[in-house]
Amino acid sequence: MNTQATILITGATSGIGESLLHKYAEEGYRVIACGRNTQKLQQLADEYHDVVPLAFDITDIEEINQSVMQVSGIEKIDILMLNAGDCRYIDNAKKFDGALFSQVIATNLQSLGHLLEGFLPKVPAGGQVVFVSSSATLLPFPRAEAYGASKAGVDYLAKSLALDLKAEAIDVTLVHPGFIKTPLTDKNDFSMPFMLSSEQAALRIFDGVRARKSYLHFPKRLTLLMKMLALFPDVVWQSIALRSNKK
Ligand SMILES: NC(=O)c1ccc[n+]([C@@H]2O[C@H](COP(=O)([O-])OP(=O)(O)OC[C@H]3O[C@@H](n4cnc5c(N)ncnc54)[C@H](OP(=O)(O)O)[C@@H]3O)[C@@H](O)[C@H]2O)c1
Repeated sequence: MNTQATILITGATSGIGESLLHKYAEEGYRVIACGRNTQKLQQLADEYHDVVPLAFDITDIEEINQSVMQVSGIEKIDILMLNAGDCRYIDNAKKFDGALFSQVIATNLQSLGHLLEGFLPKVPAGGQVVFVSSSATLLPFPRAEAYGASKAGVDYLAKSLALDLKAEAIDVTLVHPGFIKTPLTDKNDFSMPFMLSSEQAALRIFDGVRARKSYLHFPKRLTLLMKMLALFPDVVWQSIALRSNKK
């Protein structure tokens, strides 16, 4: 009987997801690696015997359905790691970019419904679902109307699903990373305190998921400070946020 555990990672071609792929592959997992970058997926599959490349766009329902068919031979997915995401900013609030808002919601939140519909049936009792959200949901940030709203939706989805999956004996982990050095944050032009490497982030996620924790947040020197600030009246954070947003 094959006892090798299987993990499916979305967004495995870059940043946190790629570091997770390396960690899980090195720990002996079969990794179903997802992303749109087929060249990178093939490179990862060439590197590890047990990496299965699965190329699809998470905003395309047809492509998701085809991918579900492609892995129909794999009997179970022990860990469903929903990590893929994008961060884009609303640069002019008065000239609100509705298309950008929709695209960010589609990538970070709406996709999750289709991914759950396709892949959750493969997660057995004792399995796990992991949502990589963001510590950005702890406080409102300027220009983050789209990204923050999408990730706040992910938080609610994860917490609600955790309740409903109890009966199925499937554990849910919600992850709130702080700033992690990846291509996503390389685009940012503001200061990002207490930044971690993607390897450090992956290790924290790996350990927390193995311990079956329901909630992970790191680095704590950032997230605990944010949680404390969130306890004060809104005006306190607003004055800090507006001061630090001045060029
Ligand atoms: N970096 C941070 O500081 C930070 C902080 C908090 C939360 N997060 C969250 O962590 C997750 C990973 O972010 P990261 O920093 O590692 O970003 P990244 O290096 O830009 O990687 C994003 C990954 O998502 C995939 N992806 C994006 N859009 C996709 C689409 N439409 N279809 C399929 N795959 C798609 C990309 O794959 P392809 O390009 O191959 O499609 C890529 O593998 C995201 O959900 C992000 O919001 C990051």
